[in-house]
Amino acid sequence: MTQPMKEWMDGPGVASHRAPIEQLGRVAPRSERVERLLAQLTLAEKIGQMSQLTLPEQLEADPQAHARLLGELRAGEVGSFLNARDLELRNELQRVAVEETRLGIPLLFGRDVIHGYRTIFPIPLGVAASFDPTLAEAVATAAAREASEAGIDWTFAPMVDVTREPRWGRVAEGFGEDPWLASRFGAAMVRGFQGDDPSQPGRVAACAKHYLGYGASEAGKEYNTTWVPEPLLRDVYLPPFRACIEAGALTVMCGFNDLNGVPMSGQRWALRELLKGELGFEGFVVSDWASVEEMIQHGSCAGARDAALEAASAGVDMEMVSRTYRAELLRLVENGALPVAEIDDAVRRILEVKQALGLFERPYKQRSAPPAALCPEHLELARRAARQSLVLLENRGRCLPLSPALESLCVVGPLADDRHNPLGCWSFDGDRTATVTLLAALKQRLPAPGQLRYVPGVPDARSSDRSGFEAARSAVAAAQAALVVLGEDGNISGECRSRAFLGLPGVQTELLEQLASTGTPLVVVVMAGRPLTFAREAQLASALLYAWHPGTLGGPALADVLFGDVAPAGKLPISFPRTVGQVPIYHAHKNTGRPPRKGRRGIPTGTPLDPVDMDASYLDVDVSPAYPFGFGLSYTSFRYSEVSVSPTRGSFDTRFEVSALLTNTGERRGVEVAQLYVRDLVGSLTRPVRELKGIQRIELLPGASERVRFSLSASDLAFCRRDLSVGAEPGRFQVFVGGDATASEGAEFELC
Ligand code: NOJ
Repeated sequence: MTQPMKEWMDGPGVASHRAPIEQLGRVAPRSERVERLLAQLTLAEKIGQMSQLTLPEQLEADPQAHARLLGELRAGEVGSFLNARDLELRNELQRVAVEETRLGIPLLFGRDVIHGYRTIFPIPLGVAASFDPTLAEAVATAAAREASEAGIDWTFAPMVDVTREPRWGRVAEGFGEDPWLASRFGAAMVRGFQGDDPSQPGRVAACAKHYLGYGASEAGKEYNTTWVPEPLLRDVYLPPFRACIEAGALTVMCGFNDLNGVPMSGQRWALRELLKGELGFEGFVVSDWASVEEMIQHGSCAGARDAALEAASAGVDMEMVSRTYRAELLRLVENGALPVAEIDDAVRRILEVKQALGLFERPYKQRSAPPAALCPEHLELARRAARQSLVLLENRGRCLPLSPALESLCVVGPLADDRHNPLGCWSFDGDRTATVTLLAALKQRLPAPGQLRYVPGVPDARSSDRSGFEAARSAVAAAQAALVVLGEDGNISGECRSRAFLGLPGVQTELLEQLASTGTPLVVVVMAGRPLTFAREAQLASALLYAWHPGTLGGPALADVLFGDVAPAGKLPISFPRTVGQVPIYHAHKNTGRPPRKGRRGIPTGTPLDPVDMDASYLDVDVSPAYPFGFGLSYTSFRYSEVSVSPTRGSFDTRFEVSALLTNTGERRGVEVAQLYVRDLVGSLTRPVRELKGIQRIELLPGASERVRFSLSASDLAFCRRDLSVGAEPGRFQVFVGGDATASEGAEFELC
């Protein structure tokens, strides 16, 4: 990095003291076609390529708007559209661009395909709970096939914003709190969307978003301010973007957030120096929805001209939805405020992506026959993905799995028979008629008359109507076991869905209390887009299975696990707090000068006012999370032993081999995700108490053991140091191998 902090703190990029673009990750000419076009394009047409519009819902119904749009297209004023919902319309617009504009440059059509298109897979946070990046790759491949046949060239995914904020609705869209895990999942999604060659049929361009630091939104409030010091940016928020770029992501979207006083759409340091320069990103950057214009609201730009100048100078290559580029860039270049080299760099990047997608050769899309949408292969994958995403949090007295010989099961909760909400946020293209609910799946398994009864209890998850309580209570009282499906609606997570309370909405807890009074064992399934707090509910339940929003085949997947056809193996990709007051709570926290002692809580009356026994804990709640990062039970149990590292002393060239013996100590076959954590004991900047550095999924028969092995090198131990350079430091390191972030089996080595 050439100019640390200073450049950001200078705020709105004043043209006079900036480094010229030549020094800031300008892309070199790559292809003859693009250079030829660049030489032929007028300045206005170049600006057109940098402009993305959204297609109105009902364009066909508004002939005037339709005609206006075609006029803009013919004049070369648009380079891309988002939200083309209809293949015919998409191809019609494409035909105008290709056949009726001066240079025939094809349009690029983008859409939010976040966790599936027609077939909906679990929300990304749920997919992350599989701790299996190959699953994410398969899911993205399927989503790309379905989206591509519907005319989509480019998805605005994956979202790789690391976040420690369950209040933030967008926690659902990403891969959780850990940068190492989010990097693996982000890269896997990019590979799945784009394949080896994104121009091949069934592939779409990926977009790593929202660069940078968006997940640090203050208080978990959407669109909020983010203050992230550079070491934290580099160690936590940047790695997943680096991983996506290394995996070949063709585009990056910048966030809505104000990062350290400068909105991301005007962050020249983060975009040009860091992303395009240091990380060598050669694709293009798209703004978020009107985020260029929103710099006026942020109070960072005085008006549209200022915003356009800021964003284009910062390296936002394409403006989404707002029209400041089209209104202002021409004049800004003509009066010398903006070097044309910066415009050329943006257009070159955009045209290279269009070329990489094969749009010049194959501008039109066709329906596939047979269609990929909802094909049996994708539905099977949706079922597998949902199974792998389920996390078993409680299982007292081995209440689960349920016996198929169960004489009577009562199902309660509106989400049990809902085709809409279990699809989760960003599922607008999902086919609700294809959803198989949990109730429908259970009907198949328990067909005998009287074996299965359903009573919703409340009309919907957010309702405060208690009139159905009594019917639910008496039905549960008469059953051998009850399955209570609680949680959040699909649309209270995702964009602009922040919550200040993390409890179950409505009167669901009260309903559960009523049901518990019957004494019938309760199996609780929670469907939600975020970690919720549910200490009371967990106490009342015999078993608790966290299902996130599980997607189209969530119902059958849940039934598979509840009845034990498949053992649960999901692990939490984010720490679950006991109460919202603990947020942010995450495994890679610092030790502090007064680390909390186990079990310490409260302050006895009469405690002297002298400072004794003071440590970094709470008076009113245990300092640990309700369920730690990486946690998840199986129907069997596992033991870790014999953790060792070899050699125990080595240089920066050494590979340290860590191994542990994993044994299935239970009576059933099961899959365990073994996790490697590292602690760097002393650093020029203090280091987290645990950092995830490896995962392995292992299937073991009862009684069987296997040695799990991980390998570490100095680059795995690198971090942003006190002088802001990145690298490892010599010293002692502890390693821990176990089934969650509290793993205690460890060993030590020294890096010299
Ligand atoms: C705003 C969201 O922040 C972003 O994630 C999404 O891709 C765009 N809108 C486009 O819909």
